[in-house]
Amino acid sequence: MDFELKTLTRARICNEKCDALIVLIPQDLNSDDDPLSALSALAIKSGDLEIKAGRLLSAYRTPGIAAIRIVLVGAGDGSPKNIRTAVNAAFGALKTSNAQRAILCLSTLNNLQPDAVRAAVVACSEAVYSYNTTKSKSKATPAKLQRVVVGVSDAATARAGFDKGIALVKGLAIAKEWANRPANYATPTLLAGAARELAESRNIEVEILGPKEVAKLGMGSFMAVAQGSAEPLRFIILRYNGAAKAMAPVVLIGKGITFDTGGISLKPGSEMDEMKFDMCGAASVLGIFRALAELQPALNVVGLIPASENMPDGRAVKPGDVVTSMSGQTIEILNTDAEGRLVLCDALTYAERFKPKAVVDIATLTGACVVALGGVRSALFSTDEQLAVALQAAGESSLDLCWRMPLDEEYAEGLKTNFADVANIAGRAAGAVTAAKFLQRFASRFPWAHLDIAGTAWKGGTAKGATGRPVALLLDYLLSQIPSAVPGKAPAKAKLLKSKAATKTRA
Ligand code: BES
Ligand code: MN
Ligand code: ZN
Repeated sequence: MDFELKTLTRARICNEKCDALIVLIPQDLNSDDDPLSALSALAIKSGDLEIKAGRLLSAYRTPGIAAIRIVLVGAGDGSPKNIRTAVNAAFGALKTSNAQRAILCLSTLNNLQPDAVRAAVVACSEAVYSYNTTKSKSKATPAKLQRVVVGVSDAATARAGFDKGIALVKGLAIAKEWANRPANYATPTLLAGAARELAESRNIEVEILGPKEVAKLGMGSFMAVAQGSAEPLRFIILRYNGAAKAMAPVVLIGKGITFDTGGISLKPGSEMDEMKFDMCGAASVLGIFRALAELQPALNVVGLIPASENMPDGRAVKPGDVVTSMSGQTIEILNTDAEGRLVLCDALTYAERFKPKAVVDIATLTGACVVALGGVRSALFSTDEQLAVALQAAGESSLDLCWRMPLDEEYAEGLKTNFADVANIAGRAAGAVTAAKFLQRFASRFPWAHLDIAGTAWKGGTAKGATGRPVALLLDYLLSQIPSAVPGKAPAKAKLLKSKAATKTRA
């Protein structure tokens, strides 16, 4: 889908030909002397349009307005959250129509902030998204909507939010695509291929390690998870170099279990298919690199993805087996289904070589996290106050929320064992926290945070599918780390390069 940002007054919008015109109506709507304002005012006055976010009123071929279909949508107080709700509802309603070219009118909103423009662009793309890769041609439902012009009262002030929105749309698309693919279309080798493709962009490099290289590094914990699978493991290293070499990078580590059967500690059959989503952390790292390619910020970022399947097999690791991690710590694998922490711990040790400013791991790590926080907020664990605050703030500004969880030493009690330095499970209580306590043992050499996205990365039921979370949170966090950044402004070098491309953008 193409997006374009344009300065369009309401009077001009009335004369713009398009298949559909979506008009956001906030509480503090100013009336103007044009047919669109008159129509909106009448709809509100008659009580046929409620201004509550997401309420719709549709019209067809209306005098004085060139658009064929018109959708008026309530936007409440015009906050980014309400704009997201409104745009989602309006474009959701258009999904079944034949509209190919739409105008999204935001010129009705006062004091339009960059975050609001971004929210509108992202919500628009989310509303028309459909997964098609593994459907036959006749069953695929590609979006009919081809082009959306975002009309604002001043394109110059909306530009930064728009560009961020476009980058996010592209990043989310990659994250959702790889997460939604079934495990036989998203093997560790295929994930590595996706990373290779990303490395064709400016300032991005990739290195892929296979079983031999990983053995040489001494990643005994990661190897133990992969040894029961016929698919060879991959360790993916992505680098985005947008700043001077001397600038310490942020390292993002994504859990890349392309299918989690539980291994010998086999999971029950019901809903086991959803364990194809156990690489959503990895998918979010791929998505972030796509967004970085687009925005070219003055930052250095490393992405690490330990990718493998977790399968039961004659060669599979058994409960009670003890393995030696890259850090030298020995681990008793009491439950082969607690495999995420086993692949992440070696990636955390590997991260040390980058002398990182911060390391954030992202993982669909525990069912207990789903019980604790559901699908609303991801769980955030951190040993570093500044990092925790920055990630929480990024969650709020991007509408991709997280919630801080504890790391008291007492929670590590249950990880003790008589047979190794540490066990990979504790008791049933506080399962999301004990998993984080396990990881913490491998993250003592840098500021570290862990995001458990087991509840937020995908939806089950009839709406089953990946959400793309927490790409938005991570992108806002990374952009907040640009040194001496003027809020809402990209550095000069990056701005020059992207402004032309972003005017008309395919997403
Ligand atoms: N990938 C799962 C976590 C998960 C489960 C995410 C359900 C989303 C929904 C992880 O590898 C796992 O199996 N964790 C176990 C840990 C337990 C054995 C300590 C769990 O949560 O049951
Ligand atoms: Mn598991
Ligand atoms: Zn898992």
